[in-house]
Amino acid sequence: MSRYFALLPAAGVGARMGADQPKQYLELQGHPMLWHAIRAFDAHPAISAVQVVISPEDGWWDAYDWSGFCRLRVARAGGASRAASVLNGLSVMDAEAEDWVLVHDAARPCLSRALLDKLLDELSADPVGGILAAPVADTLKRAGEGGRIQETVSRERLWGAQTPQMFRYGVLRSALERAGSGVTDEASAVEALGMSPRLVESDRTNLKVTFPDDLALADWLLSRGS
Ligand code: CTP
Ligand code: MG
Repeated sequence: MSRYFALLPAAGVGARMGADQPKQYLELQGHPMLWHAIRAFDAHPAISAVQVVISPEDGWWDAYDWSGFCRLRVARAGGASRAASVLNGLSVMDAEAEDWVLVHDAARPCLSRALLDKLLDELSADPVGGILAAPVADTLKRAGEGGRIQETVSRERLWGAQTPQMFRYGVLRSALERAGSGVTDEASAVEALGMSPRLVESDRTNLKVTFPDDLALADWLLSRGS
């Protein structure tokens, strides 16, 4: 039987947030953002372990109480890019090639149990794996010179990639080893191997907290429960 592992890269600095600490430690509903991301997986009975990857220079992790989580592991193994942090996390995990790994941004604290269940249900028998994603809602413009529109890009069949991104441990590790640090998600590394990951329809409640004005929305979503 394949097991399920969560892998949370949390070694970023949050430059676009511009706060005085990395955004994964900003407080939402009384806990650091990362706590909520961990909880989504630690509370799920199908998940065997939750591996968090923090920066070797992280001076924040030890300031918080993580003892309420029963399947949590942390590695001070962050790399220069998200892809490097994920790959370093994979290398410290005690997983078999056929086990599933769900890679999830520490900066997505609002993942609901319903969306996690949907991802697991739709992909557990899939030969490749896949990702949560939401159809693009806005009309898209490509910028040209001087802040002017160069062209309109059709949003037909365009989806915004989210996390978790769920792949077999062996496939994911070799995909990321081959892809290098340029990839911004796991799916694109797997695509480069010639495979077609599944799109599992999500919604915009699973937002990535990137800019300061995302914080109030995330806090409100968490206050409602999920
Ligand atoms: N991440 C990581 N290692 C890096 C860069 C990013 O583990 N070298 C993690 C972040 O901590 C986050 C996730 O990857 O959980 C998604 O990245 P992003 O939202 O871009 O976070 P930051 O890189 O911290 O933010 P910014 O790009 O604004 O600096
Ligand atoms: Mg980043």
